[in-house]
Amino acid sequence: MNIAFIGGGNMATALIGGLLDQQLALPADVQVVEIDGARCVELQRRFGVQTATAPGAALAAADVVVLAVKPQQMGDVCAALRPHLAQPLVLSVAAGIRAVDLARWLGLERIVRAMPNTPALVGKGVSGLAALPAVTAADRALAERILQAVGRVVWLAQEQQLDAVTALSGSGPAYVFYFIEALLEAGRELGLTAEQTLTLAIETFVGAAALAAASPEPVATLRAQVTSKGGTTAAALARLEKDEVKQSIVAAIHAACVRAQELGDEFGRSK
Ligand SMILES: NC(=O)c1ccc[n+]([C@@H]2O[C@H](COP(=O)([O-])OP(=O)(O)OC[C@H]3O[C@@H](n4cnc5c(N)ncnc54)[C@H](OP(=O)(O)O)[C@@H]3O)[C@@H](O)[C@H]2O)c1
Repeated sequence: MNIAFIGGGNMATALIGGLLDQQLALPADVQVVEIDGARCVELQRRFGVQTATAPGAALAAADVVVLAVKPQQMGDVCAALRPHLAQPLVLSVAAGIRAVDLARWLGLERIVRAMPNTPALVGKGVSGLAALPAVTAADRALAERILQAVGRVVWLAQEQQLDAVTALSGSGPAYVFYFIEALLEAGRELGLTAEQTLTLAIETFVGAAALAAASPEPVATLRAQVTSKGGTTAAALARLEKDEVKQSIVAAIHAACVRAQELGDEFGRSK
C-alpha cells in the first residue's frame, strides 16, 4: 500500500512517525509532497520516506492520499493535485473543509474526513471520522488504521457531527491547557514553586483522566468521591458553581461549534 501525504507539517509528521513505528507502513511506501524543501530534507533524514516539493507522476501510485495542509490552502492544493491522482482513497485531516467540497475539487468520491487533535503528536490523540457514501468498508478500515497510529478513533454517522468533534476534542486540548494555566497561577499565589506546581497540575490531569478511563463509575460519582461534606473540595466546587463555570464551559464549546460551521462555509466557497 502506497500512502501519499500532502503537506509534511506537524500532523503529517505525527502520522508518518506512528505508521512507521507500528510497522503499518514501510518508508519506501510513503511519499510526502511538502512545499518547503528544507522540510523535505528533514523528513527524508528522519523517516527515509520519498519527498517532493510539488505534486508529480509518483502520486499516481498512491492508494491513499492524506491531505494535511492548512484549511485555507486546501482549495489550491486540490486543484494542483487533481491531474496527478489515479483513484485513491482520500483522507483529509484539515479542520473545517467539507468532504463534498474536497470531492468537487478533486473529482473523487471516496473521501474520509478526520478531525484529530494535538496529543496525536505524542501518540495520544483522538480523532472523529466521517465518510462519504462511496467509501467502502475496506476504505474505512484503512482510514481507521492510519489514524489509530496516533491514538483512538470515533466514527460518526454524519459528517456534520465533525463540527461538534472539532469543538470538543479538536479544540479540547486548549481548554485543558487553560485549566492547567489556572492551576499554575493558583499554585504561584499559594507559594509553591513553578516546578512543583507544574508537576502537581499535570500529574493531577493525567491521573484523573486515567482514573476516569479505568473506572466503571460515571465521572460525576468520581467527583463526589473526592468531595467530603464541609471539606476543601466542597469549598472549591461551591465557588465554581456560584460562578457558573460549568455553564460557561458548555457555552464556550457551543461557540467553537458555531465557528467550525462558519469556517466550513467560508472554506467551501473558496473555489
Ligand atoms: N496540528 C493539529 O493538532 C491538528 C489537529 C487537527 C487537525 N489539523 C489539521 O491538519 C492540517 C495540518 O495541520 P498542521 O498543524 O500539520 O499544519 P502545518 O504544520 O502548517 O503543516 C502543513 C504543511 O503543509 C505545507 N504546505 C503548504 N502548502 C503546501 C502545498 N501547496 N503543497 C504541499 N505542502 C504544502 C506547509 O508548508 P509551509 O509551512 O511552508 O506553508 C506545512 O509544512 C490542518 O488542515 C489542520 O486543520 C491539525
